[in-house]
Amino acid sequence: MPVAAPPQQSLPSQTRMPTNSPPKYTAPFDTKVYSIHPDMAEVFKKWTGIVDDDELKEHLIKVSKEAFDHFRYPCISMFPPTDLPSYDQIKALGRHRKRHILLEIGPGLGTEIRRLVYDGYPVNDIVAIDLLGGLWESGHALFKSDASTFPVKFIEGDIFRNEVLSLDVPGEISQDNPRLEEIENLEPLSGKTSVIIIQQVFHLFSLERQIELAKRLLKLIKLEKGSIICGRQGGSVPERNCHTQNVDHYLHSPKTWEKMWEELLPTSKAKYSTEFRPLPADIEEVYYSLSQTTGYVTWSIEIL
Ligand SMILES: C[S@@+](CC[C@H](N)C(=O)[O-])C[C@H]1O[C@@H](n2cnc3c(N)ncnc32)[C@H](O)[C@@H]1O
Repeated sequence: MPVAAPPQQSLPSQTRMPTNSPPKYTAPFDTKVYSIHPDMAEVFKKWTGIVDDDELKEHLIKVSKEAFDHFRYPCISMFPPTDLPSYDQIKALGRHRKRHILLEIGPGLGTEIRRLVYDGYPVNDIVAIDLLGGLWESGHALFKSDASTFPVKFIEGDIFRNEVLSLDVPGEISQDNPRLEEIENLEPLSGKTSVIIIQQVFHLFSLERQIELAKRLLKLIKLEKGSIICGRQGGSVPERNCHTQNVDHYLHSPKTWEKMWEELLPTSKAKYSTEFRPLPADIEEVYYSLSQTTGYVTWSIEIL
């Protein structure tokens, strides 16, 4: 989400923003935008053990406000809608007798992968990477989990850094899956990741950076029928640059989004599904104040 400003509080060292970090949102936490889909409420109830709706709301607002005061991402107060494209196919991959590694990039509080685990995706087959380890910890506070009850392999790191994942073409890819608990970066997942989820991340960057990000995802994805890359981010019709506080963000239309990908992965090798949708009314105002858009692009790429 656009808008840059230094974090307001001094952060613990492991949560300091790296120089490569995207810009931060400056407006105060707005509980008006608290909105939670009933299906998602069930997921929160299961994880937290809090069954009363008012008590749940109080807990979610309290923890997300604390996280917001540190990390300043508006999405912290906007729980993702339950419309992740290809959700049912992803769930089915999780139930298959063969292991399918799932990677979420920039999970923030980790809401989407907690929903997948609630729906049966094997927690030990999931990896998450985020710039902000502290935000991941806030996710544990939000869901009342810890590394033993939610043992997703978490890596604190910047997806653009070569130490995390180089852009070098991988050599021959073995059939064996890596032991996820032992990996220290994303390199061992090259060509082995069956599902990549990336939500509200692409729009943080310029078009040039988005192309580089897409190349990194293509290095990770397993080129096998049924593998999926999917997500959503702020979009615009027509597509345009959004320049906020000295940072360029590119807002794709469905047309430019697919064009960007098709230049890297032709339609003969993948099926593209992309939609432009209006933002839910409760978050429209906040979103509009950030990037003058009232819509988002939701998409999936399925390997053929
Ligand atoms: C706008 S938040 C979205 C969080 C969550 N996916 C959601 O939809 O609510 C962007 C997330 O991407 C992470 N992020 C931003 N740049 C990143 C980078 N270069 N490498 C890894 N994670 C990054 C942020 O720390 C944050 O958790």
